[in-house]
Amino acid sequence: MTKRTIVTMPGDGIGKLVLKEALKVLEAAGFEAEYVHGDIGWEFWCTEGDPFPARTQKLLEQYKIGLFGAITSKPKDKAEVELAAGLKGKGYTYYSPIVSMRQKYDLDLCMRPCKTFKGNPLNFIRRGFGGVIEEPSVDVMIFRQNTECLYGGVEWTNPSDQVYAALMTHAKFRENFAWCPKPDLAVSTRIFTRKYTTRIVKAAFEYAKAKGFKTVTVCEKPNVIRETSGMMLKIAQEMAKNEYPGINVQDTNIDAQMMWLTKNPENYHVIVAGNMFGDIVSDGFAGLVGGLGFACSANIGPEIAVFEPTHGSAPKYAGFNPSIVNPMAMILSACMMLEHIGESEKAKKIYNAVATVIEEGKVKTYDMMKLPGNPDAFSKGAANTEQMTEAIIGKIAK
Ligand code: NAI
Ligand code: MG
Repeated sequence: MTKRTIVTMPGDGIGKLVLKEALKVLEAAGFEAEYVHGDIGWEFWCTEGDPFPARTQKLLEQYKIGLFGAITSKPKDKAEVELAAGLKGKGYTYYSPIVSMRQKYDLDLCMRPCKTFKGNPLNFIRRGFGGVIEEPSVDVMIFRQNTECLYGGVEWTNPSDQVYAALMTHAKFRENFAWCPKPDLAVSTRIFTRKYTTRIVKAAFEYAKAKGFKTVTVCEKPNVIRETSGMMLKIAQEMAKNEYPGINVQDTNIDAQMMWLTKNPENYHVIVAGNMFGDIVSDGFAGLVGGLGFACSANIGPEIAVFEPTHGSAPKYAGFNPSIVNPMAMILSACMMLEHIGESEKAKKIYNAVATVIEEGKVKTYDMMKLPGNPDAFSKGAANTEQMTEAIIGKIAK
């Protein structure tokens, strides 16, 4: 068999620190691949005016599978200030490269698993009846639509006359917003399409069916956001009726869901949501199973797929040598990549090794000890990033 080629895009900050750890673990699990490096992130915005350079896009188009660390994104005004002197005022606009990547390659299916590891000191606990302390076991897969909704980028401040005129055709706009001077008006649209809403809902049902779960939860807000949330709920209800007779649709509102998250997280296994609410609910669930140091994700399109930890570049934590951050989120993202390309055995090996290290509890990064994120953690017994990787590699069954 020819070796696979994987495009590695470390990006910024701790992305650079954790991605190389995942590669060590992949190698230890016997996964043989060629890796090609793709430039991405803030430094390429500053020096070239493009955080997602064409050369990196070409690599992804050629090899189809990417492992991504994290990038630093900053607001519009800061982006302009940090652009190289020769590029300023030449019409460059900063867009988050990961959002651009998801949209350009239709990486519309985002999967974010949140699963309790036995013995993780960061597991969520709650007080049950009679004061007993309970540690509910969380096992949920969040399906987040990845390309539309509030992240679609269709937005205006001081909209053009044409846009304004279009808005004025809506009775609610006339009633509630016509008083506002145009320059003081900011509009971000929440667009859902039937095609992509159907794709994410379908992915959730297929997963429920494969895993034997009987309920798919649509986490939106259709009572208020009638058109977009309403479309997703309706598609799910029809799909259940017509294609998945054994699976029920449960409908929760994002706000209530965030409260239920800590009341009964064990009752949810498959959640589907639009881009914004999917982002929120997946971070919420991640908090129950250890936080961002553990949260992994997949961005899957019809041709290309990119795997990344949910966390960002954590710049405050990026400058320490040795590195302090937890590489597990990145390593578990690499596991998702292995699953996706049909290397389930190797994925399982890595997953089990991570689970064993956590359960034994001998090697813990600072976050697992609830310590402030700085090198003082080492003197209190915290492992550094590489030591955590070594511990995981040590548990990979030969
Ligand atoms: P962040 O995820 O980088 O960090 C938030 C906090 O989570 C950190 O301060 C740290 O306490 C903890 N944390 C994150 N990763 C960890 C790890 N591997 N081990 C242990 N603890 C960890 O989010 P923040 O600070 O809001 O954003 C920093 C930068 O990252 C921003 O520029 C933001 O735009 C960008 N970002 C990029 C993302 C991406 O590349 N997909 C996602 C989220 C944020
Ligand atoms: Mg997020």
